[in-house]
Amino acid sequence: MHAGRVQMAHFGAADLQVDKKGTIDLVTNIDVAIEREFRALIAERFPDHSVLGEEFEQAGQWDQIPEYCWVFDPIDGTTNYAHGLPIFCCSVALEIRGVPVVAAVFDPNRQELFTAERGQGARLNGKPLRVSSSSALIDSLLVTGFHYNVQRDPAELMALFTTFITRARAVRRLGSAALDLCYVAAGRFEGFWEEKLHPWDVAGGARVSGVDGSAYSSRSGSVLATNGHVHDEMLAVIREFHATWRQPSGS
Ligand code: IPD
Ligand code: CA
Ligand code: CA
Repeated sequence: MHAGRVQMAHFGAADLQVDKKGTIDLVTNIDVAIEREFRALIAERFPDHSVLGEEFEQAGQWDQIPEYCWVFDPIDGTTNYAHGLPIFCCSVALEIRGVPVVAAVFDPNRQELFTAERGQGARLNGKPLRVSSSSALIDSLLVTGFHYNVQRDPAELMALFTTFITRARAVRRLGSAALDLCYVAAGRFEGFWEEKLHPWDVAGGARVSGVDGSAYSSRSGSVLATNGHVHDEMLAVIREFHATWRQPSGS
């Protein structure tokens, strides 16, 4: 919640500094400041715990599974934040020996705090959440996201997006994977999929697997999270897509 206050204090400010980590991958001085503060807090309170955060990630850190690891994204939705679009959050999860045990995502624009505890389900501002009961893909509102290399190789991502547009009620792209996942848990979306996510983008869902149906791992980058009821139908669409889709010649 403190991170949310810092985000809002500088949101839309004239002195916000925006830098490029890649052609379209942004970082602001606020991403860096919040993560620095979080790391200092953990170092002071839990000196033997590790932090896996977006802005100060060390090479090879993903492969290590520490006993206690705080997975942290100071701003999920940095592109929205830098453009003054009020869809972003801060997300944190604690993994014990690689297993997420608690997670929290705070959206300061809507004052929504999503929390989840292993085996206890998810809550919004303290109230238990329920996923949607829709069981048919054609009645489902889906959401997805695109990684920052999408410009280099958009064809396959766009083709799968098109496939879901023809099979679901509608598909959204909000720009914050952590909120996308919380919204599945809150019943606002029936399903979310994305490939090449980072561990800190991912905090929750009802039924979660890899996009190919494999067991979910926060380090794999591939996430399919649904209300449970449409999971198999979405997996079938993705499998059928991969069985038939071919890269356009010349690309
Ligand atoms: C990004 C957002 C976006 C998702 C990207 C993420 P960032 O995180 O969650 O929705 O599609 O894959 O990298 O860069 O805003 O923290
Ligand atoms: Ca992120
Ligand atoms: Ca981020």
